[in-house]
Amino acid sequence: MSPKRIGVLTSGGDCPGLNAVLRGVYSAATELGWEVLGLRDGFEGMLVEGGDTMVLNRENTAGIMQVGGTILGTTNKGHFTSKIAGGERSMIPEEVIAKASKTCRKLDLSAIIAIGGDGSMSTALQLYRAGFPMIGVPKTIDNDLEATAMTFGFDSAVACVTDALDRLHTTAASHKRAIVVQVMGRHAGWIALWGGLAGAADIILIPEIPFSLEKVAEVVQKRDEAGFKSTMIVVAEGARTSHGQQFRKQSASGEWRLGGIGEMIAQEVEARSKKETRVCVLGHLQRGGDPTTLDRILGISFGVKAVQLAREERFGTMVSYQNYEVLDVPIAEAIHHLKKVSPDCQLVGTARALGISFGD
Ligand code: F6P
Repeated sequence: MSPKRIGVLTSGGDCPGLNAVLRGVYSAATELGWEVLGLRDGFEGMLVEGGDTMVLNRENTAGIMQVGGTILGTTNKGHFTSKIAGGERSMIPEEVIAKASKTCRKLDLSAIIAIGGDGSMSTALQLYRAGFPMIGVPKTIDNDLEATAMTFGFDSAVACVTDALDRLHTTAASHKRAIVVQVMGRHAGWIALWGGLAGAADIILIPEIPFSLEKVAEVVQKRDEAGFKSTMIVVAEGARTSHGQQFRKQSASGEWRLGGIGEMIAQEVEARSKKETRVCVLGHLQRGGDPTTLDRILGISFGVKAVQLAREERFGTMVSYQNYEVLDVPIAEAIHHLKKVSPDCQLVGTARALGISFGD
């Protein structure tokens, strides 16, 4: 009898820890005597005639736990997009599902482990409902997936923001400047909040708490008058002013992406407070590089758990981290809403108690 074969894919924006999951899946499956086929470029690998695949083996999974990115490749575009601008869901076309189904039957996959964020989990759920043996593994640096206390990738992104702030503090103080640091976070301000706190920011602006430019400039000015040399402002790319204004830029291909808020705040703060101000956009630095210790542990543990779920044929479930334990939940539970920062949560309270302003 040929060994059981499972598929695994990485989908959506990459992040540190994806390779750790792949390593966990490969090792746990090998212990069971199973074969693991990696599908390239997310769900797209199912659309290539016969499947665009790579057999995971000892050689290509050796030493990958500690390396960022994904050896399978990924995409946040393509034929399986099930979340569109604004977060609304869209249905995957029937012909795409039929083609993918043909490939999976041909490849004889008894389970498919999909590692991805909110949009990818929404795709996994649609495929599960169409009869695919899907298991989900939550991933996103934004940490905005419901039904899991944490996703891997988040800690590494926060470490990047913290490191950047540590560096920027010394140059800001030397020149007596304000610096606006723009970080990722389309709908949720977790990276800005955690990174801002750990990196000793003075002002943190997040999508969940609308801010006023007047207030931000006032805080900068007051700090200046009180003798502070510098002021560090962390802003999530998706933060909004109290007028609901968000900042977007159109790419050369016509796609609208968040961007420009840091620049706008720097200009306004300088004009209003007369404090010399600079801006630093961290962008994809937050998604690159090696995973932190926590993200390695989360990654390999999630991979092992996904194989256990496959063994128990618990399809339609997603690995979930709760109270220091790796458990599971129905994928459907993870994609109802995005997990956002509550303006009343303890961490926001802690920040306020430290004198950090949210610009409100
Ligand atoms: O969802 C993760 C994320 O990093 C967002 O915070 C960010 O807006 C987006 O991906 C950027 O995606 P892209 O790789 O398409 O620029």
